[in-house]
Amino acid sequence: MQVQTILSLFPLTLVLGCAITPYSGGNDTSTQVEKLLSQMTLQEKIGQMTQLDFAMIAATTHINPNNPVDQAKLEDALLNHHVGSILNAPYTPYSKAQTRQTWQAIIKTLQATTAKSRLKIPVLYGIDAIHGATYTQNATLFPQAINMAATFNPALSNQEGAITAKELRASGLHWNFSPMLDIGRQPLWSRLWESYGEDVHLASVLGTAFIQGHQGDNFAAPDKALTCLKHYVGYSMPNNGKDRTPAWLSERMLREYFLPTFAAGINAGAPTIMVNSGEVDGIPGHANHHYLTDILRDELGFKGFTVSDWADIKNLYRRDKLAASEKEAVKMAVMAGIDMSMVPFDYSFYDLLIALVQEGEVPIARIDEAVRRILTVKYQAGLFAAQPAMTAPSAQADAEALAINRQAAHESIVLAKNATHLLPLKKSARIFVTGPTANLLSALNGGWTITWQGDDESAYPAEKQTVLEAIQQQATGPVTYVDSTTLAANNGLQQAAATAAKHDVIILCLGEKPYTETIGNISSLNLDPAQYQLAKAMISTGKPVVLVTLGGRPRIITDIAQQATAVVLGFLPGMEGGTAIADILFGAYNPDGKLPISYPRDTNDHVLYDHKPSEAFEFNRYTPLYPFGHGLSYTEFQTSGLQVAKKSILLGETLDVAVTVKNTGSLTGKETVLLYINDVAASVTRPTKQLKAFQKVSLAPGQSQRLSFTLTALDLSFIGVDLKRIVEPGEFKVMVGKESVAFWVEK
Ligand code: GLC
Repeated sequence: MQVQTILSLFPLTLVLGCAITPYSGGNDTSTQVEKLLSQMTLQEKIGQMTQLDFAMIAATTHINPNNPVDQAKLEDALLNHHVGSILNAPYTPYSKAQTRQTWQAIIKTLQATTAKSRLKIPVLYGIDAIHGATYTQNATLFPQAINMAATFNPALSNQEGAITAKELRASGLHWNFSPMLDIGRQPLWSRLWESYGEDVHLASVLGTAFIQGHQGDNFAAPDKALTCLKHYVGYSMPNNGKDRTPAWLSERMLREYFLPTFAAGINAGAPTIMVNSGEVDGIPGHANHHYLTDILRDELGFKGFTVSDWADIKNLYRRDKLAASEKEAVKMAVMAGIDMSMVPFDYSFYDLLIALVQEGEVPIARIDEAVRRILTVKYQAGLFAAQPAMTAPSAQADAEALAINRQAAHESIVLAKNATHLLPLKKSARIFVTGPTANLLSALNGGWTITWQGDDESAYPAEKQTVLEAIQQQATGPVTYVDSTTLAANNGLQQAAATAAKHDVIILCLGEKPYTETIGNISSLNLDPAQYQLAKAMISTGKPVVLVTLGGRPRIITDIAQQATAVVLGFLPGMEGGTAIADILFGAYNPDGKLPISYPRDTNDHVLYDHKPSEAFEFNRYTPLYPFGHGLSYTEFQTSGLQVAKKSILLGETLDVAVTVKNTGSLTGKETVLLYINDVAASVTRPTKQLKAFQKVSLAPGQSQRLSFTLTALDLSFIGVDLKRIVEPGEFKVMVGKESVAFWVEK
């Protein structure tokens, strides 16, 4: 059969109407880089490959809160060991948000000390700012990635990137370990919420938009900053659901689901990539030459530099038992393609790699290659030039950022059920509020918020509203709150139920406390029993229950959801999330979020929307509690008139598709129209449907709009039997809403 082989894995050419260009690898700075490289000693080169945690330069006694650097330790790092990168914030053992002023003092101290060094190579400071400038106090903290995905709004992701970069640079920080482009297809995984969900196209579009906003077309600009794609590759699919445990991915699975988002991020211009802390098919990410060099460099053409994840070179020895010594681990990782080591708490990498080069175990050419990449990025980030003043965003910029954050929170929340049109509530209603996530800002934000785990509630800004506080502010009738964590056993529940029964409606806030990484590992998607007992007591009142869930991943709520009158899936809507949820409950905002994941009906209900035919054949069914793309509005929408421009196209041709969407309800609202395809018969089993395009529109009651889409050969492609990306001739279907239209691809 004649097929079309697709050579480029770059799924996107335009996002938000602007062309996107891969990071070029510094053709315009190569002369400066080569000149500098030629002057460097082996020690200076390997120092550039060394990244240390802030703790290595932190004062531990007589700490000056306005500048917690220990000058002697800093000089040991920068002048004696020529260290090229620092990460994280002060407050050992884990980071904690600092004032902008403290950050500026730290950065200035680093710059002043660098100026004393022989070659004055600037330090590149890396920080996790995955939903805003996490470690800068009072930063704009957005909905987490899973929520940004639920907005299906790339413009918001772009604005999030721009605002995050601006606020990072105001703190003197140039390098953000974000976006995470691992695909979220394992609901147990403790970092699902850091992903853009289960779909490759959605994650690629939103990740690209974030990178564009964060970097602009010049990441040296005073309000732009570097991004870092993570965690390359296959990290998000641990077989048992637990973070940093083995994934078993065939190369077909890897190429179909896990590589495309990184290809999109590379195409969008990200200059750095952080590596998978786990292992795939028995090969740890940090020792995988095939992934790190054959695929990443030779196939995807990545020209920037790779950085290890936390202590993951050491882990090749102390955890994975792949290397017989730490020295061998350093050799393995550097030769596989790791350019910079996040060591992070000692000089072992520096010392061992110098020895390896001196003993001829690692060629200087490999060192030069890594250092060349690192220096090129530093030049392109403008680090060698005079640094612009670290200016705080203006009051107007802060106000605009707040408005955009509020909009993102609104658009990220999913109304999953609204029986009897209970919602929106009357503000005068007698409202009973309870549940473990009702009165916590940390439950709205999740990990990487002010601290690593995001669980220091006392450090959250007092002026931001929890769900309860927002309801109390907006309601005009009586609001009663019972802190469910104080309820003693049964009689406490009974008393709460008796109180709740005297109200018109119960707002039951369930879900998860914040977490990230292995600390968030769980062995079941079930909630803790106390939450089910509380739900049962609330439902026993016979009063209408609005279930509000918060947390980083779906938890099993089926029985509660079936008995609740309304269900609002909040996930992690960020600092404006409490207000946004109240706005939706009282109708100040008409919800429009859509699920970027399949919401499981039960703990082993692990079937995703783009499942294979056999998963919905005979007695098998895709029956999640709520499917991918599900989300209700207070109005109604209908799509109709699905049309393809041609019934058949030749291999390689594009196909125009059009469909009309209409607001058939009584309120203005936003609707995301999702366009799926199905390759009816192919040489590899094909998903029953795959998202290939989406558009979000705002329509007034009765208003309709004709939407146009263009399907490309890449959209119709898949990984063939020989692991090449191909398009095969044959029948295809394009599907929108309830409509499906066939078309053929001819030889
Ligand atoms: C962590 C995470 C990674 C983060 C890095 C630096 O272990 O895996 O996402 O960017 O360390 O904090």
